[in-house]
Amino acid sequence: MMDLFDQLEPRKELAEGAVLLRGFALNYEAAILSAIDAVVAAAPFRHMMTPGGYRMSVAMTNCGKVGWVSDGKGYRYSPTDPDSGKPWPAMPETLLTLAQTAASEGGFAGFVPDACLINRYEPGAKLSLHQDRDECDFSAPIVSVSLGLSATFQFGGKRRSDPIAKHALHHGDVVVWGGPSRLFHHGILPLKEGEHARLGRCRINLTFRKAS
Ligand code: SIN
Ligand code: FE2
Repeated sequence: MMDLFDQLEPRKELAEGAVLLRGFALNYEAAILSAIDAVVAAAPFRHMMTPGGYRMSVAMTNCGKVGWVSDGKGYRYSPTDPDSGKPWPAMPETLLTLAQTAASEGGFAGFVPDACLINRYEPGAKLSLHQDRDECDFSAPIVSVSLGLSATFQFGGKRRSDPIAKHALHHGDVVVWGGPSRLFHHGILPLKEGEHARLGRCRINLTFRKAS
Protein backbone atom coordinates (compact mmCIF):
# COMPACT_ATOMS: atom_id res chain seq x y z
CA MET A 1 0.00 0.00 0.00
CA MET A 2 1.45 3.35 -0.97
CA ASP A 3 1.59 5.88 1.82
CA LEU A 4 0.24 9.36 1.04
CA PHE A 5 2.74 10.85 3.46
CA ASP A 6 5.67 9.08 1.86
CA GLN A 7 7.11 12.24 0.45
CA LEU A 8 7.40 13.91 3.82
CA GLU A 9 9.91 11.36 5.06
CA PRO A 10 13.41 12.10 3.78
CA ARG A 11 14.48 8.55 4.52
CA LYS A 12 12.41 5.39 4.30
CA GLU A 13 13.76 1.97 5.25
CA LEU A 14 12.39 -0.56 2.76
CA ALA A 15 14.04 -3.69 4.20
CA GLU A 16 17.22 -4.61 6.03
CA GLY A 17 19.95 -3.10 3.84
CA ALA A 18 17.52 -1.14 1.66
CA VAL A 19 16.67 2.54 1.96
CA LEU A 20 14.85 5.15 -0.11
CA LEU A 21 16.47 8.58 0.11
CA ARG A 22 13.89 11.14 -0.98
CA GLY A 23 15.23 13.90 -3.22
CA PHE A 24 18.83 12.90 -2.56
CA ALA A 25 19.94 13.62 -6.16
CA LEU A 26 18.32 17.07 -6.33
CA ASN A 27 21.42 18.84 -5.02
CA TYR A 28 23.31 17.63 -8.06
CA GLU A 29 20.45 17.96 -10.56
CA ALA A 30 22.05 20.23 -13.18
CA ALA A 31 25.37 18.38 -13.14
CA ILE A 32 23.65 14.99 -13.41
CA LEU A 33 21.53 16.05 -16.36
CA SER A 34 24.50 17.43 -18.28
CA ALA A 35 26.55 14.31 -17.50
CA ILE A 36 23.72 12.15 -18.91
CA ASP A 37 23.54 14.32 -22.05
CA ALA A 38 27.28 13.83 -22.61
CA VAL A 39 27.04 10.04 -22.22
CA VAL A 40 24.01 9.82 -24.51
CA ALA A 41 25.77 11.90 -27.19
CA ALA A 42 28.57 9.30 -27.28
CA ALA A 43 26.44 6.18 -26.70
CA PRO A 44 22.79 6.79 -27.72
CA PHE A 45 19.81 5.07 -26.10
CA ARG A 46 18.75 1.86 -27.81
CA HIS A 47 16.15 -0.86 -27.25
CA MET A 48 18.01 -4.11 -26.59
CA MET A 49 16.59 -7.54 -27.33
CA THR A 50 15.94 -10.08 -24.60
CA PRO A 51 17.56 -13.52 -24.94
CA GLY A 52 14.06 -14.76 -25.83
CA GLY A 53 13.84 -12.35 -28.79
CA TYR A 54 11.65 -9.57 -27.38
CA ARG A 55 12.48 -5.86 -27.80
CA MET A 56 12.76 -4.28 -24.35
CA SER A 57 10.32 -1.40 -23.77
CA VAL A 58 12.99 0.47 -21.78
CA ALA A 59 15.72 2.14 -23.89
CA MET A 60 19.23 1.77 -22.44
CA THR A 61 22.78 2.97 -22.57
CA ASN A 62 25.74 2.76 -20.18
CA CYS A 63 28.80 4.51 -18.90
CA GLY A 64 31.69 3.14 -16.88
CA LYS A 65 34.28 0.42 -17.33
CA VAL A 66 31.60 -2.09 -18.32
CA GLY A 67 27.98 -1.79 -19.42
CA TRP A 68 25.00 -4.11 -19.13
CA VAL A 69 23.88 -5.61 -22.43
CA SER A 70 21.22 -8.05 -23.56
CA ASP A 71 20.88 -9.89 -26.86
CA GLY A 72 20.09 -13.34 -28.23
CA LYS A 73 23.11 -14.71 -26.39
CA GLY A 74 21.96 -13.58 -22.95
CA TYR A 75 22.54 -10.87 -20.35
CA ARG A 76 26.06 -9.80 -19.48
CA TYR A 77 28.44 -6.90 -18.86
CA SER A 78 30.58 -5.78 -21.77
CA PRO A 79 33.48 -3.29 -21.89
CA THR A 80 32.32 -2.14 -25.32
CA ASP A 81 29.13 -0.73 -26.77
CA PRO A 82 27.88 -3.38 -29.23
CA ASP A 83 26.38 -0.65 -31.46
CA SER A 84 29.63 1.26 -31.98
CA GLY A 85 32.24 -1.34 -31.06
CA LYS A 86 33.88 1.33 -28.87
CA PRO A 87 34.36 1.34 -25.09
CA TRP A 88 31.41 2.77 -23.13
CA PRO A 89 31.92 6.45 -22.15
CA ALA A 90 33.79 6.83 -18.87
CA MET A 91 31.65 7.35 -15.77
CA PRO A 92 31.44 11.14 -15.22
CA GLU A 93 32.91 12.23 -11.89
CA THR A 94 29.60 13.79 -10.74
CA LEU A 95 27.77 10.51 -11.24
CA LEU A 96 30.45 8.56 -9.37
CA THR A 97 30.32 11.01 -6.47
CA LEU A 98 26.52 10.87 -6.35
CA ALA A 99 26.58 7.06 -6.24
CA GLN A 100 29.26 6.94 -3.56
CA THR A 101 27.59 9.55 -1.36
CA ALA A 102 24.23 7.79 -1.60
CA ALA A 103 25.80 4.39 -0.89
CA SER A 104 27.47 5.76 2.25
CA GLU A 105 24.16 7.26 3.35
CA GLY A 106 22.64 3.79 2.87
CA GLY A 107 25.32 2.17 5.05
CA PHE A 108 27.68 1.03 2.28
CA ALA A 109 30.81 3.15 2.63
CA GLY A 110 33.60 2.44 0.15
CA PHE A 111 31.32 1.60 -2.78
CA VAL A 112 33.26 1.75 -6.07
CA PRO A 113 30.86 1.20 -8.98
CA ASP A 114 32.33 0.29 -12.35
CA ALA A 115 29.04 0.25 -14.26
CA CYS A 116 26.21 2.73 -14.64
CA LEU A 117 23.19 1.56 -16.62
CA ILE A 118 21.01 4.41 -17.88
CA ASN A 119 17.40 3.42 -18.49
CA ARG A 120 14.88 5.60 -20.30
CA TYR A 121 11.19 4.85 -19.79
CA GLU A 122 8.53 6.43 -21.97
CA PRO A 123 4.86 6.09 -20.98
CA GLY A 124 3.92 2.40 -21.09
CA ALA A 125 7.51 1.15 -20.64
CA LYS A 126 8.09 -1.21 -17.74
CA LEU A 127 10.66 -3.51 -16.21
CA SER A 128 9.28 -6.83 -15.01
CA LEU A 129 10.12 -8.19 -11.60
CA HIS A 130 13.71 -9.50 -11.58
CA GLN A 131 16.85 -9.92 -9.49
CA ASP A 132 20.15 -8.22 -10.38
CA ARG A 133 22.47 -11.19 -10.57
CA ASP A 134 24.75 -10.59 -13.54
CA GLU A 135 27.40 -8.96 -11.32
CA CYS A 136 30.47 -10.82 -10.02
CA ASP A 137 30.32 -9.39 -6.53
CA PHE A 138 27.10 -9.37 -4.48
CA SER A 139 28.78 -7.72 -1.49
CA ALA A 140 28.47 -4.33 -3.23
CA PRO A 141 25.08 -2.58 -3.14
CA ILE A 142 22.99 -1.19 -5.99
CA VAL A 143 22.36 2.54 -6.15
CA SER A 144 19.36 3.58 -8.23
CA VAL A 145 18.61 7.22 -9.11
CA SER A 146 15.20 8.29 -10.43
CA LEU A 147 14.76 11.35 -12.67
CA GLY A 148 11.83 12.79 -14.57
CA LEU A 149 8.33 11.28 -14.44
CA SER A 150 7.36 9.42 -11.28
CA ALA A 151 7.15 5.64 -11.34
CA THR A 152 5.95 2.80 -9.16
CA PHE A 153 8.81 0.66 -7.90
CA GLN A 154 8.05 -2.88 -6.81
CA PHE A 155 10.28 -4.26 -4.10
CA GLY A 156 9.86 -7.84 -2.97
CA GLY A 157 12.16 -10.35 -1.37
CA LYS A 158 14.68 -13.00 -2.19
CA ARG A 159 12.07 -15.41 -3.45
CA ARG A 160 9.89 -14.49 -6.37
CA SER A 161 6.85 -15.50 -4.34
CA ASP A 162 7.70 -13.15 -1.42
CA PRO A 163 5.25 -10.27 -0.79
CA ILE A 164 5.85 -7.23 -2.99
CA ALA A 165 5.59 -3.66 -1.72
CA LYS A 166 5.06 -0.66 -4.00
CA HIS A 167 6.88 2.64 -3.58
CA ALA A 168 6.40 5.80 -5.63
CA LEU A 169 9.72 7.09 -6.93
CA HIS A 170 9.92 10.75 -7.89
CA HIS A 171 12.46 13.02 -9.59
CA GLY A 172 15.62 13.03 -7.47
CA ASP A 173 14.83 9.98 -5.33
CA VAL A 174 17.59 7.45 -4.73
CA VAL A 175 17.17 3.83 -3.62
CA VAL A 176 20.12 1.91 -2.20
CA TRP A 177 19.87 -1.84 -1.61
CA GLY A 178 22.55 -4.30 -0.62
CA GLY A 179 23.68 -6.73 2.07
CA PRO A 180 20.68 -8.85 3.09
CA SER A 181 18.49 -7.31 0.35
CA ARG A 182 21.06 -7.34 -2.48
CA LEU A 183 19.22 -10.11 -4.36
CA PHE A 184 15.69 -8.89 -3.65
CA HIS A 185 13.28 -8.91 -6.57
CA HIS A 186 12.31 -5.52 -7.98
CA GLY A 187 10.63 -3.98 -10.99
CA ILE A 188 8.93 -0.91 -12.44
CA LEU A 189 5.21 -0.87 -13.32
CA PRO A 190 4.22 0.55 -16.73
CA LEU A 191 5.03 4.28 -16.68
CA LYS A 192 1.98 6.52 -16.62
CA GLU A 193 1.48 9.24 -19.20
CA GLY A 194 2.84 12.63 -18.15
CA GLU A 195 5.15 15.52 -18.86
CA HIS A 196 8.03 16.38 -16.55
CA ALA A 197 9.18 20.01 -16.33
CA ARG A 198 12.86 19.16 -16.87
CA LEU A 199 12.84 15.85 -18.72
CA GLY A 200 9.61 15.90 -20.72
CA ARG A 201 7.68 12.73 -21.44
CA CYS A 202 10.03 10.25 -19.80
CA ARG A 203 11.66 8.83 -16.73
CA ILE A 204 15.39 8.24 -16.59
CA ASN A 205 16.90 5.85 -14.08
CA LEU A 206 20.58 5.41 -13.32
CA THR A 207 21.71 2.19 -11.66
CA PHE A 208 25.22 1.97 -10.33
CA ARG A 209 26.77 -1.42 -9.72
CA LYS A 210 30.06 -3.09 -9.08
CA ALA A 211 29.82 -5.54 -11.93
CA SER A 212 33.31 -6.91 -12.54
C1 SIN B 1 16.72 -1.76 -12.68
O1 SIN B 1 16.21 -2.62 -11.99
O2 SIN B 1 17.75 -1.98 -13.35
C2 SIN B 1 16.14 -0.38 -12.79
C3 SIN B 1 15.07 -0.09 -11.83
C4 SIN B 1 14.49 1.29 -12.07
O3 SIN B 1 14.32 1.72 -13.23
O4 SIN B 1 14.16 1.97 -11.08
FE1 FE2 C 1 17.37 -4.37 -11.55
